[in-house]
Amino acid sequence: MRISVIGCGYLGAVHAACMAKLGHEVVGVDVDERRIAELQEGRAPFFEPGLAELLEEVLVSGRLKFSSNPSDIKGAQVHFLCVGTPQRKGEYAADLRHLDAAFSGLLDSVEPGNVIVGKSTVPVGTAARLAERLQERHPDAVLAWNPEFLREGFAVKDTLHPDRFVYGVPSGDAGAGAAAMLDGVYAAALAEGTQRFITDYATAELVKTAANSFLATKISFINAMAEVCDAAGADVTLLADAIGADERIGRKFLNAGIGFGGGCLPKDIRAFMARAGELGADQALTFLREVDDINVRRRIRVVELTRTLVGGSLLGKRITVLGAAFKPDSDDVRDSPALSIAAQLQLQGADVTVTDPQALSNARGRFPELTFEPDLDAALEKADALLLLTEWDEYRELSPTAAGAVVRHRNILDGRNVLDAAQWRSAGWNYQGIGRP
Ligand code: UGA
Repeated sequence: MRISVIGCGYLGAVHAACMAKLGHEVVGVDVDERRIAELQEGRAPFFEPGLAELLEEVLVSGRLKFSSNPSDIKGAQVHFLCVGTPQRKGEYAADLRHLDAAFSGLLDSVEPGNVIVGKSTVPVGTAARLAERLQERHPDAVLAWNPEFLREGFAVKDTLHPDRFVYGVPSGDAGAGAAAMLDGVYAAALAEGTQRFITDYATAELVKTAANSFLATKISFINAMAEVCDAAGADVTLLADAIGADERIGRKFLNAGIGFGGGCLPKDIRAFMARAGELGADQALTFLREVDDINVRRRIRVVELTRTLVGGSLLGKRITVLGAAFKPDSDDVRDSPALSIAAQLQLQGADVTVTDPQALSNARGRFPELTFEPDLDAALEKADALLLLTEWDEYRELSPTAAGAVVRHRNILDGRNVLDAAQWRSAGWNYQGIGRP
């Protein structure tokens, strides 16, 4: 099929490359000319495992092109809207300016029979509003809402082999036609038995925000348990293993630590609360305020634990932060808990050095006041404390003996509870986990 992808960020660039991999003819467009030039040369503008190799493969096939000219989407049968919907400055609500601008541009190129497919995460009601605009200009084109559930770090795999599809479509023949088009796009995954749910617009939009809210709630739940474990002298990791053994609860997303960050979970729960308020259903989501508060409290707690770890005062202490990205296998630093902790420690007088295998250049752009050291050994040198804040494999596998030989004081705070406490302690380290005795 002939496909256009509008917006080539973390979501759109991966989607475009994966659609070409599936055999479709794809054009990806974005207003950012530098990003488009990089993509056209086969360079991924961000770190995502497998993306660079995939881009190279599909660009050579000739099935994938990138362009900064919005009218190059003409001729596509299906147009995917993949632009970002960040949090508005000073508010909880989502900023839909990029989406509205992309949609207006798209209307100039739509042809009869086209299907426009929204993938961006939006406040419920957005699809119905956009469908009305589409109807006015192009009564013979259809809008579908098809939320994306990919995780950064697994984006290629999640796009090629998702665990479900949700198609929000209008009722009647128009909706059935749009669903049939999407079935054509996703034929390969559907043939593998991937579930597909056909819904109205509002349900499709809500599936996405409800899923992210549930995941955020699970993380904040276990982090709240970590606070209680700290107070009671219990171990939250064992607690998570034991409650997670109950199939109804499940062990996934019960890793206590410094909390969730990134470009999705934090802003999505806030936008969801804001939208529920507009709809008069704010009471239904007041618990998300608590989920957010627990999450933010994690960061404050880690600063306090670090102060205790280095003897009561942060002033002049050399702190090495292992990890800047909001999660491993990503260079994304949007709302990264690791960086917000690093910045807070620095503000309170510590001399903070941050290291990360991929995210340093993005981190430097956001927090120029911090010191960044790409070389792990150099970062460890003469540290008064190490803080493992993003669980990259190289930090999980760090040798306590080798690290112990270069630091000034053997203090480690394991902000993701991924190290073997006994092993570090027996190598002479003062080990501090989260919610662990
Ligand atoms: C999240 C969802 O998992 C995806 O399904 C969704 O498509 C995506 O948002 C989106 O809306 O686009 P992502 O932001 O890539 O994906 O990252 P997650 O794997 O969900 O992790 C989010 C944060 O939670 C990270 O900071 C991670 O370190 C933290 N986390 C995760 C925990 O603190 N504990 C856990 O047990 C799991």
